Amino acid sequence: MTALTRLRLTDFRSHASLDLKLDTRPVCLWGSNGAGKTNVLEAISQLGPGRGLRAAALPEMTRHDATSGWTISATLDEDRKLGVGLDSTGNGNKRVVRLDGAPATATDLADLIRIVWLTPAMDSVFRGGASERRRFFDRQVMAHIPSHGSVSNRYEKAMRERNALLERGRVDPAWADAIEGRMAEAGAIIASNRARILIALQDAINDRPEGFFPKGDLALEGDAEKLASEDASLFDVQDLIAEQLAKGRYRDQAAGRTLSGPHRTDLSVIHRPTGAAAGDASTGQQKALLIGLILASARALNADGNGPSPLILLDEAAAHLDRDRRAALFDELIELGGQAWLTGTEEFLFEAFGDRAQRVEITANPD
Ligand SMILES: Nc1ncnc2c1ncn2[C@@H]1O[C@H](COP(=O)(O)OP(=O)(O)O)[C@@H](O)[C@H]1O
Ligand SMILES: [Mg+2]
Repeated sequence: MTALTRLRLTDFRSHASLDLKLDTRPVCLWGSNGAGKTNVLEAISQLGPGRGLRAAALPEMTRHDATSGWTISATLDEDRKLGVGLDSTGNGNKRVVRLDGAPATATDLADLIRIVWLTPAMDSVFRGGASERRRFFDRQVMAHIPSHGSVSNRYEKAMRERNALLERGRVDPAWADAIEGRMAEAGAIIASNRARILIALQDAINDRPEGFFPKGDLALEGDAEKLASEDASLFDVQDLIAEQLAKGRYRDQAAGRTLSGPHRTDLSVIHRPTGAAAGDASTGQQKALLIGLILASARALNADGNGPSPLILLDEAAAHLDRDRRAALFDELIELGGQAWLTGTEEFLFEAFGDRAQRVEITANPD
């Protein structure tokens, strides 16, 4: 069981100071539009790896009138004290992490807490471009493998160097080899992480109960992931990426960007009940499919034995579901066991939880 039993925010977005004392049941945050409910979920997401639920830069999350940075402190399962914050006192902005009152790292927190989320911004994931789907999938990978984000950063950094090198015109082959070698090394890890989590996710999808949230069939469309899923060694995947990059130098020089590699991979999702591509399903079907995917992601984390059961953040998920679907969602969340955090504008949306969940009204801070 992983649950937050207390959550305190200072100067985080609209919240000058918020202190929630909780039990381990799911938490239903309700209140009017703009009250600061999503801000609370975003704050929780800062306890995990990466940039969090809105992918915001650190200073963006500081309350507008605040004189220094923001802090988030959480009590986990009664005894562990987790803290993250933005220190903007010196020059520059520094993310600080604390565990049980002492300085710590994001990796320390990653051993204790895992988080998945679904937000209205993800609604367009099946209709949008490959980059949106890739980001969505990488988010799930990062929940399983916290280092996935830093490997991706290493890859992107090397790619920017390669693009800059190609842009300069005459390319020193040894230099290009070295940069592409670094891209291939990070890229192979990215591809094998993705291939592994795809299997875990698909298994969890298949294990989910049948019902209102339909199942999807997932595939990664990328050469490196395809090879990684065929049990090739990391070196083989690395060689493939390096080879394609070397071959593509002139093409990429003309294009002004890198046209091969795992940063181009797409996630294909088939809506199983109809056999259609998820992007062609109705808006309602896409939403239901997405909820099913997030529930599967949480289920996969429960099953992997590598860490605590995840917190599940569902922003505005209940509002668009009819009564029966809401009840089915709540039942599945209870069955999953990790503490779920839900938001909605009306308290009645959470009726079907009965006393299996706690309600917290969020009101805007009076300025
Ligand atoms: N850095 C910030 N400082 C102060 N207020 C902010 C900041 N960022 C967002 N807000 C405010 O937070 C409010 C939105 O909060 P949000 O959590 O999205 O509301 P909701 O309850 O509808 O989910 C808006 O009024 C917005 O102006
Ligand atoms: Mg909101």
